[in-house]
Amino acid sequence: MMTNETVLITSDADENERACQVSRRRFLQAATIGSAGMAMLMVPGCGSMMARTTLLPRQLVASMDQLIDDKPVNIRFPDRKSRCMLIKLGVPAGGGVGPGKDIVAFSTACPHMGTPLLGGYNAKHKGMGPCRSHLSRFDLTRYGIVVSGHATESLPQVLLEVDGGDIYATGIRGLLYGRSNNASLSA
Ligand code: FES
Repeated sequence: MMTNETVLITSDADENERACQVSRRRFLQAATIGSAGMAMLMVPGCGSMMARTTLLPRQLVASMDQLIDDKPVNIRFPDRKSRCMLIKLGVPAGGGVGPGKDIVAFSTACPHMGTPLLGGYNAKHKGMGPCRSHLSRFDLTRYGIVVSGHATESLPQVLLEVDGGDIYATGIRGLLYGRSNNASLSA
């Protein structure tokens, strides 16, 4: 959760879900605020594989009452060209929201070479993949980290928040495949 005074930023590489608490002053030093109100956060010293986090205008993507454990819901965020998957894992996950901290969402474009991963959810392992191109697999309980295959980047994770019975997307951790900017429509 983010307040005016504190920003919580987590590292892909930190399996213990250690959070780096950055003072507002340091946040302002590290953030570049774009004209659309987008913040690009890159904070050195908070882990060797710090993922870039892009804050975006929040969008309603699902409602709590439509979720069933291990049944993916296809969403698009931050625009129609970006296919993502929202899933209630049934177990707590890094970045998870909801009462069980088990609701997460990820891009379905493989971060290696962009192969679509739609339909690639593996309920047994709470993972995504294998990618049909080069067999990468991703752990959805741990911020989408790569567990095997050719990919070197985590699966970009959609930041979520629950407001009443609604689920909103508010940003992306990592970079969507093929984009230089998560907010760009040019991909
Ligand atoms: S495109 Fe998915 S592993 Fe290469």
